[in-house]
Amino acid sequence: MRLIEAADYQDMSRKAAAFIEAAIAEKPDLILGLATGGTVTGTYEQLIRDFRSGKVTFQRAASFNLDEYEGMQKEDRNSYHYYMEENFFKHVDFQKGKNHLPDGMAQDMEEACREYDRLMEEYGGIDLQLLGIGENGHIGFNEPGTAFETKTHLVRLTPSTKAANARYFNSAEEVPDRAVTMGIASILKSRQILLLASGMKKADILQKLADEEVTEDIPATVLKQHSNVVIIADKDALSKLTKEQKKVLGHD
Ligand code: GLP
Repeated sequence: MRLIEAADYQDMSRKAAAFIEAAIAEKPDLILGLATGGTVTGTYEQLIRDFRSGKVTFQRAASFNLDEYEGMQKEDRNSYHYYMEENFFKHVDFQKGKNHLPDGMAQDMEEACREYDRLMEEYGGIDLQLLGIGENGHIGFNEPGTAFETKTHLVRLTPSTKAANARYFNSAEEVPDRAVTMGIASILKSRQILLLASGMKKADILQKLADEEVTEDIPATVLKQHSNVVIIADKDALSKLTKEQKKVLGHD
């Protein structure tokens, strides 16, 4: 793991965008794994600015998103399809049909999950996976206790995740009970992983990530088994970590 310390949310977002742009410069047909949530919106904003100023193009790139709520229409304002369209895709130049998300409305969910995994493989796998981290250590929607072997699958959201995501809905009851997510195995297959964390709310989980052995109880710890993980975290998210704990996460 390599840890890059950012001053604040803005700085984290700028550094993350620069990281992604460097990867696209090296491989214009990059297969990006994308995430939703508050952590990554600043990165998308920066990528959009850089696209507009001609610094980056997504013409030859493609993307696969981590997750989507079950039973939510693509047009629903709370769907991740809508989030991605509004916050990123419609502002940049991906070719039509190159942005993939799990289908929360699939009739046969099992089959749709297998198809998503098959499609990722057909594209040659993900080159760079962008990740946020849940306060309980979830990545994508892989909640604590998820087996590391899982590929794309349907999950039941924990009360803490529902509570954390309730801010996007009118009320906590409106947050769907279930979601489709790339599994841990799908995420680990990515050639490189970029994990972002910002704010005091993420300080405890980053500390745990440094301290704990790899355990299914804290899904993000599995990243310690991957050979190419970069973490960009801001000062607040790192505020509870000692020098030694930062070193464990790859700070020099
Ligand atoms: C959400 C998403 C994750 C995201 C995480 C953190 O539930 N499914 O993909 O990384 O939780 O969200 P945020 O960035 O809003 O803190």
